[in-house]
Amino acid sequence: MSKSDQTELPNLSHYWVPFTANRQFKAMPRLFKAAKGNYYTSMDGRQVLDGTAGLWCVPAGHAREEIASAVAAQLRTLDYAPAFQSSHPLAFEAATRLAGYMPTGLDRIFFTNSGSESADTALKIALAYHRVTGNPLRNKLIGRERGYHGVNFGGISVGGIAGNRKAFGNALSGVDHIRHPLDIEKNAFTKGVPQDGGIALANEFEQRVMTLHDPSTIAALIVEPMQGSAGVIVPPAGYLKRLREICTKHGILLIFDEVITGFGRLGTKFGADYFDIIPDMLTCAKGLTNGVVPMGAVAVKRDIYDAFMQNSAAGAIELPHGYTYSAIPIACAAAIATQDIFAAEKLEARAADLSTYLESAAHSLKGLPMVKDIRNIGLVAGIEFEAKAGASAFAVYLKSYELGLHVRYTGDIIAISPPLTIEKHEIDRIFNTLADAIKWVASQGEADLDASRYLKNEQSWAMHQQHTI
Ligand SMILES: Cc1ncc(COP(=O)(O)O)c(C=O)c1O
Repeated sequence: MSKSDQTELPNLSHYWVPFTANRQFKAMPRLFKAAKGNYYTSMDGRQVLDGTAGLWCVPAGHAREEIASAVAAQLRTLDYAPAFQSSHPLAFEAATRLAGYMPTGLDRIFFTNSGSESADTALKIALAYHRVTGNPLRNKLIGRERGYHGVNFGGISVGGIAGNRKAFGNALSGVDHIRHPLDIEKNAFTKGVPQDGGIALANEFEQRVMTLHDPSTIAALIVEPMQGSAGVIVPPAGYLKRLREICTKHGILLIFDEVITGFGRLGTKFGADYFDIIPDMLTCAKGLTNGVVPMGAVAVKRDIYDAFMQNSAAGAIELPHGYTYSAIPIACAAAIATQDIFAAEKLEARAADLSTYLESAAHSLKGLPMVKDIRNIGLVAGIEFEAKAGASAFAVYLKSYELGLHVRYTGDIIAISPPLTIEKHEIDRIFNTLADAIKWVASQGEADLDASRYLKNEQSWAMHQQHTI
């Protein structure tokens, strides 16, 4: 029996599932056993439309043969080369390809294995840069409320999602946060970029946060061009440009965390291109390898890299940082094959073309029960529900899955971010299914808070498994 024929559940006891309510999940597991194109196959053999490109990470669609064969061939040629003090040609080729894809000037590439590592790497480079250029007192880091920069200590420190921080002690010191730009009262149901309030909000960075700290002590500001994980927060017009101006004026490095917005998600290569801004560093991961091999990267402005080269003692390791798996051969092979697909299929332009279609489809949900706001940009939409202890979005997610659609829920929000290979009829299906799920959940009243009402099939599998092991 091939894995894709499998209907028996595996033993669920040993795997601690990340960012998941494990007891609940193991009582009603949602397992995929295969994927192709824009669809998953669930354990019970159903085709489930992928409304989220995995975890925002499969822009070119699933099971791309070009990537699979590049990775397989690489595994048989050079499986691993030590990442420190030696390397392999594909690492340089992957860096060259990525440098060519980056906004102008961001052409020095440090490879990591994830978005979290990319964020922490960028923060470390910022601190080390100021030290190597003779400004060691520039050592404060500024993030943003509701920002998500992964789960490592640097990332949760500058990140602004309380739930991801509060269990883990004090994190980094010398960190502060600017306000997030979501203003539902003024901007509910805005299509695309909200027009008002951006400059004033950005000015708060200079007026309040800097006044509090003294700008000459701030090393870097890190922001996602569009805040994804905390619920699709689209920045208002002019806001990011103003942040760029303020950072430049005060010698503060601006880091764009483009782990979600990179690789065509907004209809451009990066969010930096969409908003026409060049940050000093740009972090990415996810779509870099179409999600198939863990890999992240930090693209750094050339003069930052040069400062390390010029100001470090001869023979010294200029940046004492790196990972055993930085630029492993299969990740490089996957990244190059992904770049080839983007170049051949012009996926960014495809996303841009589809974005107005997705916008109309998403906003057609306006007026449905529980729907409080709808936001969109590029091939992303967020639907925010009236807060009911976060349960409505979760229930809509479960019901959608039952109806053959995979979406992402986070707090009171459902996020939609399909592969860039999505077809119009599939966009229709995403939002028609969501509408059905929302109506069904609303019709259940308070009962919608009870997760055991959903996914009966999965629940009977899990019970069966408990009886058989
Ligand atoms: C903006 C941003 N930064 C960092 C990360 C963390 O990436 P990873 O899960 O690969 O560590 C994510 C993940 O969603 C993200 O959206």
